[in-house]
Amino acid sequence: MDKFLIQGGNRLHGRVKISGAKNGALALMPAVILAPGIYHLHNTPNLRDVWTMSRLLGSLGIFCELNGNDLTMDARQISSFEAPYEHVKKMRASFYVLGPLLARYGWAKVSLPGGCAWGPRPVDLHLKGLEKLGAKITLEQGYVIAEADKLKGDRFHFDISSVGATGNVLMAAVLARGVTELTNAAIEPEITSLARMLIKMGAKIDGIGTSHLIIEGVETLNPVDEENIPDRIEAATYLIAAAMTKGRVELENTNPYHLSSVIEKMEETGCNIDVNGNKIFIEMDDDPKPINIKTSIYPGIPTDVQAQWTAYMLLAQGNSFITDSVYHDRFKHIPELQRLGADINVVDNVAIIKGGKKLSGAIVMSSDLRASASLILAGLVSDGVTEVLRVYHLDRGYESVEKKLENLGASIKRVKSEMI
Ligand code: EPZ
Repeated sequence: MDKFLIQGGNRLHGRVKISGAKNGALALMPAVILAPGIYHLHNTPNLRDVWTMSRLLGSLGIFCELNGNDLTMDARQISSFEAPYEHVKKMRASFYVLGPLLARYGWAKVSLPGGCAWGPRPVDLHLKGLEKLGAKITLEQGYVIAEADKLKGDRFHFDISSVGATGNVLMAAVLARGVTELTNAAIEPEITSLARMLIKMGAKIDGIGTSHLIIEGVETLNPVDEENIPDRIEAATYLIAAAMTKGRVELENTNPYHLSSVIEKMEETGCNIDVNGNKIFIEMDDDPKPINIKTSIYPGIPTDVQAQWTAYMLLAQGNSFITDSVYHDRFKHIPELQRLGADINVVDNVAIIKGGKKLSGAIVMSSDLRASASLILAGLVSDGVTEVLRVYHLDRGYESVEKKLENLGASIKRVKSEMI
């Protein structure tokens, strides 16, 4: 398992191209199940999660090939309607094939995803939504079996705004008979992007970009070529890296609108940020002001930026409070940050950070994708060398991370690790 060696203290400067969105690609890829044909998905990031989804689609009979950042998916022949545990356990987003398989073939068997590093990740809203469209759902030995001769449009309200559940139910509804009305649907850019692709395929969807979606089912859809959106979480991570190192960095290939809440908060900390088309320029000369955040659904501060913001506030001259209102206890990065000298306490799902403490390099362990990103960020500003173990977590969602950071002036090396 690889590890990163990071020598702290370098200021980042220069340009970095933001990759296509991991969560964007993972939302669009299962949609190819809905219609036979060959698809091209441009701006697809070369990431472990994309390889995992490609392998899962491959097990269904859909040949996937990534050339650079162009993904070709051949969905002309689907030979299986089962998503086995071996794929789903690696990546929760594998569960997103349930809705399209059910809509197209009337039967699907998909492993329950189980929990993740920071706790339970239920799928009850996915199942309730599909049942509302007429699916018969049974649970057998850790698998969901979904059956429906023909899904029938209906109204469904999501008790919680859920990205995955919205995607699954939306992909089922586009081939259902009649009209489906979804309320409290997720409005994350990845879902809007999925809705746009479905419309391009021939689906009839009103209200995209809002939490009220009205879908008129159609008989068939067609294959398309699509462009994946830029990764707003990767962009936020590099903005924070630039600010933490008191650097001057320009991000390219972004959609600034998708991270306006993060940009706003970073300006509150004292950063100077300029937005120009798909470019974001950031410079920072001082330590950040302590700014509290509370994560929320889009367009609020994403929960996927919470760990990175925690690392950022370690440098603030004062105390800050970080609340994750989306996930309970998504704080596995905190004990590792404490190993670097951070003064953080978690009380009732709020991380209380006493900023300004000296950070010194140490060996730290990645536990999940965004936790490992926060360890990298902290290593960039810690005295001495920080070893970040199990960087395979990072490889799930950050394309060429060490190359991008090195090009910006960071001292970071990927080495094979004899430690687990
Ligand atoms: C997506 O996960 C993202 N993953 C996550 O990013 C992200 O953290 C999350 O949305 C929230 O923005 C992908 O897009 C592949 P949810 P998802 O369903 O769809 C509860 C990353 O780091 N819930 O929106 O699984 C759930 O417990 C990953 O890139 C139910 O209660 O998240 C949570 O509290 C991590 N029942 C809330 O909704 C359900 O059936 C939001 O979860 C579904 C969800």
